[in-house]
Amino acid sequence: MNHLIFLLAIISLTILIVIWLKNHLHTSSQEKSELAIWLSQQANQQQMIQNAIQFSTLYQSINSQAISVQERKRLNRDDDVFIYGEIDFISFAKILALVSPKSGEIFYDLGSGAGKAVYAAAILYDFSKTVGVELLPGLHDVAQSLCDTFQKLFQSLFVKDRIVFINADILHVDLSIANVIFINATCFNYTLWQKILSKIANLKIGTRVIVVSKKVNHSAYQLISESFEWMSWGLSVVRVYQKIS
Ligand SMILES: C[S@@+](CC[C@H](N)C(=O)[O-])C[C@H]1O[C@@H](n2cnc3c(N)ncnc32)[C@H](O)[C@@H]1O
Repeated sequence: MNHLIFLLAIISLTILIVIWLKNHLHTSSQEKSELAIWLSQQANQQQMIQNAIQFSTLYQSINSQAISVQERKRLNRDDDVFIYGEIDFISFAKILALVSPKSGEIFYDLGSGAGKAVYAAAILYDFSKTVGVELLPGLHDVAQSLCDTFQKLFQSLFVKDRIVFINADILHVDLSIANVIFINATCFNYTLWQKILSKIANLKIGTRVIVVSKKVNHSAYQLISESFEWMSWGLSVVRVYQKIS
């Protein structure tokens, strides 16, 4: 009898664990098909695929990861905050759609690396400015050097001074004109993240902040959406916030 109760308890526990895992774990194939469905629902999907192909041409000879490693070695900065990873074009299109960028708005990427999110934002929406802020000079230089190739590949989208790269610390840049801010913060440590939170507390009302892997726990910000999205290293949680007061 005792054996039967024990067996039933084990079976019930296993069923509960399976149900919990099914509800709480996002499988990569599920997310991949969600991204494919999203793309198929876009009116401009052909254009988007063409842009994604051109975008991969822009970055075909760039090994951002290696440049980051080289730069950290050169500057003797092995802090985790510099660990490299970047956006995927189509996935980033899906992410940006969450904030419905309006024509003429200004986009910032804080910690812009080789500039993928900055160029992608300029391709995908009619931002009047897309700005990348990166501390490591080697990555900043690569991002900036791609401007000529971008102009050749995306002639109709190129407007002088529309794409700007700043070689600086995120904490030292004026963000008062920003409408949409992207922060791929997966490797940012507690100290850096707290400082960024204090900084974004002063942004203008209405500013949307897209954050990878971290939370904005601040009364001035409202959570708009939370989803799992693809990054170069795999799936990450992406949260969109809006400044409400
Ligand atoms: C995960 S990468 C993201 C690159 C890019 N935003 C993307 O998603 O494709 C984060 C970047 O932040 C940069 N970074 C880290 N701390 C920084 C700081 N205090 N100021 C500026 N850039 C910083 C790193 O060097 C790295 O290039």
